[in-house]
Amino acid sequence: MNVMTEQSVQATATPIQANAQDQFFAVRDLHAYYGESYIVQGVNLDLRKGEILALLGRNGAGKTSTLRAIARLDNPELRAGEVWLEGKPLHNQKAWQASRAGIQLVPEDRRIIQGMSVEENLILAQVAPGHGMTIEELYDHFPRLAERRKQEAVTLSGGEQQMLAVARALAREVKLLLLDEPYEGLAPVIVQEIERIVQSIKARGITTIIVEQNAVAALRLSDRAVIMDTGQIVFTGTARQLLDDAQLRNEYLAI
Ligand SMILES: Nc1ncnc2c1ncn2[C@@H]1O[C@H](COP(=O)(O)OP(=O)(O)OP(=O)(O)O)[C@@H](O)[C@H]1O
Ligand SMILES: [Mg+2]
Repeated sequence: MNVMTEQSVQATATPIQANAQDQFFAVRDLHAYYGESYIVQGVNLDLRKGEILALLGRNGAGKTSTLRAIARLDNPELRAGEVWLEGKPLHNQKAWQASRAGIQLVPEDRRIIQGMSVEENLILAQVAPGHGMTIEELYDHFPRLAERRKQEAVTLSGGEQQMLAVARALAREVKLLLLDEPYEGLAPVIVQEIERIVQSIKARGITTIIVEQNAVAALRLSDRAVIMDTGQIVFTGTARQLLDDAQLRNEYLAI
């Protein structure tokens, strides 16, 4: 239990850290670099199973870099720190091993496969080892994709492409879903549809970290929130605290 994290609103919030191995998901003192550029500067995170965390911050704060380091991509290079999922150390593992362990990143560019239909995109995602949702389960969650299953994926609207990107992640075994700016450029009605899907997979025990510029929309969905600034976490608290406090949001998120 991380009771202090829930309560504290501190400029230099460092969560009370329980043993990382005992957490569902934990990041300890992460330091990551692009070449000599020191970007992720000592990030700590703790998540319980099924929690949704909003990872917020100004442009260039290091949010995408943090997600990439968690997903164990080679860039930025992790030079120090630990990543634990269900007691398993991932800091010395590669991206494919993190994916196999259940960490699925949905990057900002969505990575739709060109020249293939919606369904072919889903089938290819399913080829990955581990058991995710079946195609029919995915269509239950994404009725818009079911209607467009034969349509070439690149001809989908931006919102539908985002849904397909999330659906591709769910076609794999997913324990921790990392969403990088899923609402970017989408109409409010589509944002709500994606929110509904993330809520329904939460009910199945899937844990999510959502990075968003649309802080209010992300907070509406989230249990907890952290704010990053220049590679460090400068606020840790509940989503409610940030939703209820526009001044706090302005202080940390205003551009
Ligand atoms: N491939 C790269 N090589 C060198 N520096 C990089 C690279 N990618 C990002 N950076 C730098 O790292 C810093 C953090 O970038 P990052 O993309 O993690 O920020 P972010 O919080 O996701 O920002 P945004 O809200 O604009 O997406 C920025 O200063 C950025 O210029
Ligand atoms: Mg980013």
